Amino acid sequence: MKTAKVTVVVDSRYGTTLALAQAIVRGAQSEGADVRLRRVSIEAPEFSVDTGRADFIAAQQEYQNLTRASNDDLAWADGIIWGSPTRYGLMSTPLRAFIDEAAPLWRAGALIGKVGAVFTSTGGMHSGNEMTLMSLLLPFLQHGMVVCGVPHSESALIRTRKGGSPYGASAVTGFDGTLGVDENELQIAATLGARVARLAAQIEAEPASVDVAAAAAGWSPEL
Ligand SMILES: Cc1cc2nc3c(=O)[nH]c(=O)nc-3n(C[C@H](O)[C@H](O)[C@H](O)COP(=O)(O)O)c2cc1C
Repeated sequence: MKTAKVTVVVDSRYGTTLALAQAIVRGAQSEGADVRLRRVSIEAPEFSVDTGRADFIAAQQEYQNLTRASNDDLAWADGIIWGSPTRYGLMSTPLRAFIDEAAPLWRAGALIGKVGAVFTSTGGMHSGNEMTLMSLLLPFLQHGMVVCGVPHSESALIRTRKGGSPYGASAVTGFDGTLGVDENELQIAATLGARVARLAAQIEAEPASVDVAAAAAGWSPEL
């Protein structure tokens, strides 16, 4: 079997989504995968977070040291796992902006047949955690990718009292963020990373030009 290449793309302010990303990386590496951990662009001013909080300052020191994600990181990978904190029941704007940048890859059909999976962190238990995971999966389907979740053979999925779901890895950090990320959530994240690595090692991507298909149908895509 080939060595899987896995790219993990993360947005995080207070560090909890970053902690999930790091657990995903460890899981993928435990299966022998070659892993790239990448960030997106967070631009000042930060309207939505408390930039004086100790966890924000500590997390950003680590986060900003990551390499900024590029389309090459997506094209390189056999498996792509992306995640962000939940914002109003949705993925964050910086991650969404990065996903928009991948339009040339869509046109080239460059991601067809790769494996995709997702993760998020929410304050609340019932305020968008699973909805954000589901919406994070949708762009993968537009790219013709194969989506991957977490099966209930992972016992942490049965034990968890907050984050982690069959739809992807997640954390529930509490209204004031003090719940952090617990062992079950980290275990589920690691399992997701390992599973993507195993599947990506077995699947052959199927890149195929969307332009050629559109031309055959008499259309010229506008992207
Ligand atoms: C502008 C904004 C919108 C948010 N929207 C939601 C939301 O819809 N549901 C929720 O549970 N938490 C929401 N949160 C809380 C964050 O998702 C939560 O704090 C998350 O754990 C932060 O992840 P991080 O530590 O990686 O930055 C919101 C936070 C901000 C700043």
